[in-house]
Amino acid sequence: MGKQDDLKRAAAEAAYEYVNDGEYLGVGTGSTVNHFIDVLAERKPYIPGCVSSSKASTERLRTAGFDVIDLNSAGELGVYIDGADETNEHLELIKGGGGALTREKIIASASRTFICMVDGSKQVDLLGRFPLPVEVIEMGRSSVARALVKLGGEPELRNGFVSDNGNPILDVYNLEIMNPIELEDTINAIPGVVTVGLFARRPADVLIVAAEGGVQTHK
Ligand code: A5P
Repeated sequence: MGKQDDLKRAAAEAAYEYVNDGEYLGVGTGSTVNHFIDVLAERKPYIPGCVSSSKASTERLRTAGFDVIDLNSAGELGVYIDGADETNEHLELIKGGGGALTREKIIASASRTFICMVDGSKQVDLLGRFPLPVEVIEMGRSSVARALVKLGGEPELRNGFVSDNGNPILDVYNLEIMNPIELEDTINAIPGVVTVGLFARRPADVLIVAAEGGVQTHK
């Protein structure tokens, strides 16, 4: 394992402390989450069902021996554990680098506690260095892109990719996100937008940061 993987594993182990035996668990998507699922597989807590944010995580969870259930049958979740692409000091996030932003936002909003795990490289002063993913309805792809240009961004279609929901994703470069809540609201209001990967209205409740010096938890 490389250094980055070691940090992701350390963050995943710290996140495991928030897993409640006997409770449904929300599980996100990405390489850090893959480490977290590995930790679950090793420690084998009793989880009556996981709600997963992607086909990839569903497959990995099932292979590890966990039941994956529909969010509609689970009701409100206690804990949701996921990674992120960028985070600021207010625990606002950019997510969706793996394309699972829509399901991630739904699960985050349906969970009492959202635990986010990152390595130190994802911490920034100003969100926007990582291109902001926006999932769109195919027929609105160009009109949404034009609206994003008017907001100062440079949208690029994620080539050869459709989300688990069958939609394309625009990655928006060169945004300096001074006011994440305002931008989230503005992009949400563009007709054709399914989900914007800004998690500012619903930031993380707990941020676990693994860096060279150790693991830190921010609330
Ligand atoms: C998935 O769509 C994303 O929101 C991921 O949570 C995010 O990209 C973090 O992924 P890594 O853990 O692979 O960096």
